This record gives sequence, C-alpha cells and structure tokens, in this order.
Amino acid sequence: MNILIIGTGYVGATTAMVFAESGWQVTGLDIDAGKIERLRQGRLHFHEPGLEELIAKHVRSGRLLFTTDKKTAIAEHDVIYICVGTPSRPDGNADLRYIQQAAEDIGFFMNGYKLVVTKSTVPVGTQEQIKSWIEAAQQQPYRFDVASNPEFLREGKAVEDALRPDRIVIGTDSARATEQLQLLYKSFHCPWIITKPRTAELIKYASNAFLATKISYMNELARLCDELEVNVNEVADGMGLDPRIGPSFLQAGLGYGGSCFPKDVSELVMTARKHEVHLRILDQVMDVNRMQFAYLLDKARTRLGELKDKNIAVLGLAFKPDTDDIREAPALRMIRELLLEQARVRLFDPVAKLPAHPFYETVAVCASAEEALLNADAVILCTEWTAFGQLNWENAKPLLGQPNFFDGRNMMDAQRMRGMGYYYQGIGTDH
Ligand code: UDX
Repeated sequence: MNILIIGTGYVGATTAMVFAESGWQVTGLDIDAGKIERLRQGRLHFHEPGLEELIAKHVRSGRLLFTTDKKTAIAEHDVIYICVGTPSRPDGNADLRYIQQAAEDIGFFMNGYKLVVTKSTVPVGTQEQIKSWIEAAQQQPYRFDVASNPEFLREGKAVEDALRPDRIVIGTDSARATEQLQLLYKSFHCPWIITKPRTAELIKYASNAFLATKISYMNELARLCDELEVNVNEVADGMGLDPRIGPSFLQAGLGYGGSCFPKDVSELVMTARKHEVHLRILDQVMDVNRMQFAYLLDKARTRLGELKDKNIAVLGLAFKPDTDDIREAPALRMIRELLLEQARVRLFDPVAKLPAHPFYETVAVCASAEEALLNADAVILCTEWTAFGQLNWENAKPLLGQPNFFDGRNMMDAQRMRGMGYYYQGIGTDH
C-alpha cells in the first residue's frame, strides 16, 4: 500500500511524517505550489518543534514525495487521507468546502478501489456526505470505502503525539477498510477503538469539548479562589490526584485558544442544535472562555485606573507556547481591547506575529521582552513561554515605569514577584 495525503498543513504534514517514519511510501498533495516547493526541499511553512527535521529526513530518503498533480496522485495511491482545513463559518458551522473539493477530486480521478480516510475534524455525519460527494463525481462506479480516523495532536507536541498516540480511533463500516487501517498502524502499540464512523467523529469533538470544559471550570473557580483567598493552583493539585479527574487541563489562566478548542466546541453545539439538543454546559464553557481575558483586564483597570495613554507591555501573542499560531489567541482579544481603550501597547512574542491589519498599526512590536518592558505602567503576560519564566525579573524591574505585573497564565511565583517589589496579580492566586 502507498499513501496519499491531501492537504499538507499542520495535520497533513504530521500525518505524512508518521507514515513515512512507519516505513510506508507517502506522497503529500496540495494546491499551494509554494508550500509544495518548500516541502520538497524539506522545509516547513509553519513552526512545529522537530517536525521539519523528520520531514527533511524522509524527503532525502525518497520515502516522502510532494506534488500538486491531483490526477496522477489520486490514480497512483491506494489509501488517501483527507487532511484539509475545516474552518468555522461565521455562524459557527464547519465550512466543508475543502473536504468536498477533495472528495470530488478523488471521485473524478479514481481508477480502482480506494480507501479514503478523514483526519480533518469534521462534523458528525460527514463520512456519509463524503461518500455521496465521491459517488456523484465518479466517472465509473469503482468501489471505495470512507473511514474516519481523527487526530488528537497538540500543537507544539505534534511529533510526540503523532508517533506515540494514547489511542487510535477508527470509524469504518467496512471490513476491508478496517483490515487495511490495522495494517497501516501495525507498529503502534496503544489502545485502539474500532467503531462506527459517526462514533469516531463524535469522539474527537467530545474529547476536545470536555478538555475545554475542564479549563473553563477552573477559570470560573479561579474567580471564587480570588474572593476566598485560596490559590487555584493548589486546588488543582489536590483535585488532580484523583485519577477520575486527572492532573491535566486544570490550569486557570486567560482561557483556551487555538485552531481546535474554540471551533470544535462551537461546532458540537451547532450539531446538537440541529438535532434539537441544547448542550447548555458547553454554551457556558464558551461564554466563560470568551470573557476570561476581561477578568484580568479588570484587575489592571482597578490598579491603573483608565487605560488611555498607559504603556502596557504584552508578553506573548501565540495561543500557547512553542507555536506561532495566533488563531483565537486570548492575547489578541486582550490587545484589541487595550487598543480600543487607547492604551499604548508594546508587544513581544518569541515567534508569533501580529496580523498585518491597520487596526494593529499602533502596536510597538519589540525584539525582546526587555524592550517591551521599557517605561511600562503594567506587564500583562498572555502566553507562558519558558523564556518569560527565565527572565531576570529583579534586573528587569528598573526598566518598567511602574512594576505592575498581571500574569494571565499564573506562570510566576507570586511571593517571589512580590518580594522583588512587584505589584503582582494572577488569576485565582491573589492573596
Ligand atoms: C488541542 C487538543 O489538545 C488536541 O488533542 C486536539 O487534537 C487539538 O486541540 P492544541 O489546540 O494544540 O490541541 O492545544 P492544547 O495544548 O490542548 O491547548 C489548548 C488551549 O488550552 C491553549 O490555549 C492553552 O493555553 C489552554 N489551556 C490548556 C489552558 O488554559 N489550561 C490548561 O490547563 C490547558
């Protein structure tokens, strides 16, 4: 078997690497000739630790090829993974136009049996839709199967997550597809779930929505902790020791962002609504998350008064560390509000870039954290990059106009910061 990956973005590039590492012959297909040219040289068009090296290794060995030629690629491969983007439309529904295009291309150019597998996160029921799109585009009635095999990759940890997954979920309605997928993943020794396509699709959404729920729950609890003079981190430590709860995703902060959680939670709510089910908990999860940045900003306002003409150093823009991804980043929400209130924003992020939009043109984008701190009336930390924890805050203090520190990720040790003379506030750690 050889494998074609349609879409060489984040999920596609990682999936291509995994199968090449497992010894399969893999081709990545994309409509973007620029991306394909870079990948052919073993270079990535986004930041993901360790991935570029592995892609380059397999490009050199010839196990990983890249092309823009749909017709030949679809005809020459047995297994076709769909890894194209599924952005959210403004109404919260998934935009499936790239999935539909991929399905129609497969239908049109197929020349024999194909196993089609979706890795992209798609609403429950999409597997059936893909089948009908392929059928409608077919020139001859070749047999094919469509399976769902969702990914659970975290940005920044994609290589580790992809090579050592904690589970493999496969949704199929065909014995032939099941057999082929078991063969593809034969070198993986983690638990497997082989189930109906709809179940596989829902497992992905339900997992992400549950993790988002954990985060919003802790963010709400953090507000109570502030009132009760209790440290939310200690509460999380105590809760996390219960194996039924688990220690991860209990970190209070500015809320979740990224390309998955916000979109997946809202799509699950929309899917439920179509079936006349109101997922009330998830409505609240989204609400808490949307306004979490404002909770920290209120603390800054209480301390500084009006934010107009105040110098605010924003540290971190990416939605989380080790990525340049700013999609749905709480830092962006924070910066937008600061600008609307006519604060002067000085921003530093080790890799992420502000969108090129006139709205942001007054933001001073700095080359270092120290530069951003110059004359600041307050620091607002939005992303917990390791470098911010390692900065010598004692030496940095004289750079600031006023040593006010608002920690949106509870990254610093409150007592130490206060010991150095900072006015320090976190989220749920203020006592
Ligand atoms: C997530 C899922 O983890 C992954 O399984 C899925 O396939 C894609 O979505 P990712 O978007 O890369 O991965 O980010 P993740 O590391 O899960 O963090 C998501 C967001 O939650 C970040 O903004 C992070 O800052 C925030 N977060 C995470 C918290 O606020 N608190 C926590 O305790 C954990």
